[in-house]
Amino acid sequence: GPALRLGIAGLGTVGIGVVKIVQRHAEMLSARTGRPVEITAVSARDRSKNRDADLSNYAWETDPVALATRADVDVFVELMGGHEGAAREATIAALKAGKDVVTANKALLAHHGQELAELAESLGRTIRFEAAVAGGIPVIKTLTEGLAGNQMRRVMGVMNGTCNYILTRMEDAGLPYDIVFEEANQLGYLEADPNLDVGGIDAGHKLSILAAIAFGTKVAFDDVVLEGIGKISIDDIRRAGDMGYKIKLLGVAQMTGRGLEQRMTPCLVPASSPLGQLTGGTNMVVLEGDSVGQIVLRGAGAGEGPTASAVMGDVTDIARGLRLPTFGQPAASLKQAQSAVAAAP
Ligand code: NAP
Ligand code: HSE
Repeated sequence: GPALRLGIAGLGTVGIGVVKIVQRHAEMLSARTGRPVEITAVSARDRSKNRDADLSNYAWETDPVALATRADVDVFVELMGGHEGAAREATIAALKAGKDVVTANKALLAHHGQELAELAESLGRTIRFEAAVAGGIPVIKTLTEGLAGNQMRRVMGVMNGTCNYILTRMEDAGLPYDIVFEEANQLGYLEADPNLDVGGIDAGHKLSILAAIAFGTKVAFDDVVLEGIGKISIDDIRRAGDMGYKIKLLGVAQMTGRGLEQRMTPCLVPASSPLGQLTGGTNMVVLEGDSVGQIVLRGAGAGEGPTASAVMGDVTDIARGLRLPTFGQPAASLKQAQSAVAAAP
């Protein structure tokens, strides 16, 4: 078939990871999708920056909207980040120009997912975001495709690798939060705004996206009960350990009699459970459906290779002509989420 032509906006960790996969696996991707998958144009702020890939065969656009609307781009791959400004504008411009969109941007989906899904739907396009939740773990495909025959009971997970690294390191090394926070900073693990990680916001974005898919509701990030890890002391961790528990920044979403409940808070989990045994920067998602029972998915939630892997899963879906609805069902049919927690006396 005709080549699927990608325009990649954002050449940081994830963007360069995607470039490398497309270059390294050109033949394999073509065999698997029945058509060549090519990059035609790329975009970032600083053209003179040295990047860890050969970009010389691709057109350059400094303005992501210009990239998103190029005639020789079929899929706009948004890997810039941020939920206002360039990422949102270029995504809307791409859809209006008839492009499909693949993004890793959880903040964009948590804040504007409904608007973007409705726009894509009205234009007959698709917006895919596997990389936005739990990085390399294909949790969105698992929910929307593999578990489509289940009424979901509950979704849970550790979805911020940085927080799990900090909590594990505090325990293993017996070091206080402030010291380990600084270590994580030195290692480059923290987002530009560290409160997105340690305040639970990034993980809350991911939970709100998963909950919308699992329960057929509109994304309701504002209803997530959020508490970060900044107040956890080494004594808290030790006392939990003495009782056979670990402290994890755990997200839980479930439908109750009063509506959707979503919490992303530090929780005690049994040390012997899969969640309790999760160490370092790894992610884990637990899915519970009425027919399948419980499924546990574990893997890298961040990093160049794992995140680009998830982006490429979406790209190959589009190359194969699979235009799944954004949230696993048409955005127009998503129900208003009603937060049980907010409604409780
Ligand atoms: P990053 O390393 O900071 O790279 C961002 C890229 O976007 C840079 O190349 C930057 O250009 C470009 N950019 C930023 N603002 C721009 C603008 N206004 N116009 C044009 N280009 C712009 O970010 P990243 O870690 O790759 O993350 C990208 C996205 O993936 C984010 O939404 C992030 O939340 C998501 N994500 C990342 C990971 C991960 O492990 N890193 C995992 C899951 C999801 P310059 O290079 O010229 O500065
Ligand atoms: N800051 C995020 C994390 C990056 O630590 O999990 C991946 O979304």
